[in-house]
Amino acid sequence: MVKKKISLVTGGAGFIGSHVADYLLKMDHTVVVLDDLSGGSRENVNKKCAFIKGSITNQKLMERIFKQYKFDYVYHLGAYAAEGLSHFIRRFNYMNNVIGSINLINLAILYNIEHFIFTSSIATYGRNQLPMVETMTPIPEDPYGIAKYAIELDLKAAQEVFGLTYTIFRPHNVYGERQNHGDPYRNVLGIFINNLMKGKPMTVFGDGKQTRAFTYIDDVAPYIAQAVAVEAAKNQTFNIGADKSYSVLELANIIAKAMEVAPKVEFLPPRNEVVHAFSDHSRIRSVFGIQETIPLEEGVRRMVQWARKVGPKSPKKFKSIELIKNIPSSWIKSI
Ligand code: UD1
Repeated sequence: MVKKKISLVTGGAGFIGSHVADYLLKMDHTVVVLDDLSGGSRENVNKKCAFIKGSITNQKLMERIFKQYKFDYVYHLGAYAAEGLSHFIRRFNYMNNVIGSINLINLAILYNIEHFIFTSSIATYGRNQLPMVETMTPIPEDPYGIAKYAIELDLKAAQEVFGLTYTIFRPHNVYGERQNHGDPYRNVLGIFINNLMKGKPMTVFGDGKQTRAFTYIDDVAPYIAQAVAVEAAKNQTFNIGADKSYSVLELANIIAKAMEVAPKVEFLPPRNEVVHAFSDHSRIRSVFGIQETIPLEEGVRRMVQWARKVGPKSPKKFKSIELIKNIPSSWIKSI
């Protein structure tokens, strides 16, 4: 009998991680989920997965897990991913997203892991030319993007010196079922849907003309899961997600329509952020054979249906903000 592959999914109780874990189960992997439940929840974890509550920053715990399970693959999706907030939680951001990731990379090398999958972000590109293409040299401009890019570079170094095989994905603005709509600092779709469920207006930063290519979860998670079986994905970096950009105001209208309510909006001062962000997906299309992506209206319909079942959530305040200076006032006032 062929031995089942064993995969570790960090952040597997979170949004993208829990969907990746589901696809891995479909691929007949044994799946071990590690999550500190800071953003994710136990309900997101498929009952067929082994679940360990803990942080990637806990080196002793990591050592124990690697020794116990003898993983074939590591899918590293655990991160504190509030990009906008990362300016104000710099130490926390680097501890989690850099040191935590390095703990995993060290162990992946030590235990001869077959393939290390890392979810980075288009945040690595910074205010670069558009569309963002993998051949560009990233110039990240916030601590979240800087941390992600540091790990990308570290994986390349680990590949050269130790032969660690990796694949890096750079998703962008992913939304869908199981996204935490109680996070007040990120994920505009969750914030807007949550606000409307509570009868509140949708809070728009600036004039709402900034654009993003919002990406439905099923256009991301299956490809991340499959990457270990794709020869041409070895030691490569891929943008992944939808092509079509929408302004935040267009998005607000689509969400209000799906929820059959008036598109009530409250304008807030602009956030310090990239105004337009969209990336080129030719590389992933050709390597993974991706054809179509789910239209925004359809993805929003599915997310709204799910969010209604879960119900509105009370925004959970981040406890240890390190810098209050220049923080968007809505992040400290209304939460
Ligand atoms: C960024 C990254 C994305 C990453 C995500 C992780 C870029 C371009 N994008 O997304 O790759 O997946 O962080 O968290 O680097 N907005 C409002 N009102 C709100 C909340 C948000 O108007 O209440 C607007 C923001 O100003 C922004 C857009 O909605 O223009 C999307 O915001 P958000 O969902 O927080 O994600 P990004 O910061 O774009």
